[in-house]
Amino acid sequence: MTKTVPAPKAGILDIAPYIGGKSKIEGVAEPIKLSSNENALGCSAKAIEAYEAAKVKLFRYPDGHAAPLRAAVSAYHDLEPERLVFGNGSDEVFALLNQVYLEAGDNIVTGEHGFLAYRISALACQAEVRLAEEPDQRVSIEKLLELVDAKTKIVYISNPANPTGTWNTPEEIAYLRARLDPSILLAIDEAYAEFVDEPTWETAFGMARGSDNMIVTRTFSKIHGLAGLRIGFGYCPLPVIEAIDRIRLPFNANLPAQFAAVAALQDSVHIEASRQQILNWHPRLRQAIAGLGFEVRKSIGNFVLIYFKDGEEAARANEFLMTQGIIIRHVANYGLPQCLRITIGKDEENQAVLEALAKFAATRA
Ligand SMILES: Cc1ncc(COP(=O)(O)O)c(C=O)c1O
Repeated sequence: MTKTVPAPKAGILDIAPYIGGKSKIEGVAEPIKLSSNENALGCSAKAIEAYEAAKVKLFRYPDGHAAPLRAAVSAYHDLEPERLVFGNGSDEVFALLNQVYLEAGDNIVTGEHGFLAYRISALACQAEVRLAEEPDQRVSIEKLLELVDAKTKIVYISNPANPTGTWNTPEEIAYLRARLDPSILLAIDEAYAEFVDEPTWETAFGMARGSDNMIVTRTFSKIHGLAGLRIGFGYCPLPVIEAIDRIRLPFNANLPAQFAAVAALQDSVHIEASRQQILNWHPRLRQAIAGLGFEVRKSIGNFVLIYFKDGEEAARANEFLMTQGIIIRHVANYGLPQCLRITIGKDEENQAVLEALAKFAATRA
């Protein structure tokens, strides 16, 4: 008798596994890690206190409705509490949306350099992922619309976008929404919203409020520095919440994460310090990097993207920075082999990056 082994359903093994930012360099005890857009200043001391306080409750299940956190987010962002869904990071909110809305043969549409999390869970639903060209590495509304058809269920945009740091204006988002059939969801991922100081960018919360097909997601992983706890949320139309709640695991937002997230929202001093660290360093880093002869464009978010001559030079620069104890992100798997993304870090980390890049610049032909 021939032996068979359990086989994953069609398509699963064709999905390229997500590769996170590196965190180790062999032989370097404490590398400078600027590869995952984490918060340079860590998280709030108040969030740590709340996390500590949660430890005596670890034997309890978390609040499946995340009531205190729901109330805190609702008050902080002025959002109707019943329209919020919490997830194990905003990644889980994308996965839940995909599970609820995608059947085999459906499709999602997103930018060619868009965040990978939307794609992986869509492929797991046996849906097609359609990647719209991004001229100048910026999401083009027209290019997205060209790919939308009767099988499109969700259009995803990260705004600001990772890793390009480009963004779409509220007028563009409104234009897109107006041209999408109301049966198609428009999901706007605002993971980096709090780091923005750009008059032509605006949160989509207001637009989503009056909409039956728009979703806005946020995360506690970036400005609040709680990436390790995994907590994010989506602001959705009520029918979307009702559908998600049918399949959401009852305790998907863990207990210490809920505690710490409430405290993080209350620490306006830490939020502002984190924001200022990025806003102060963005122009300084871009100017200094350009001064070394590298191409770096205006971008928003807690990172900068350097464009090298080609993929080979970007790979060499990446290796060189590792020899200097610095880990950054080569974003070849985002369709940008010629680019390295550097998370803006602490003052001394940013200085170290600039010194290392200056040394690399000296080796250039
Ligand atoms: C555009 C974008 N969206 C979402 C996330 C992930 O957020 P979370 O940690 O809440 O899953 C990231 C993280 O890097 C991101 O870059």
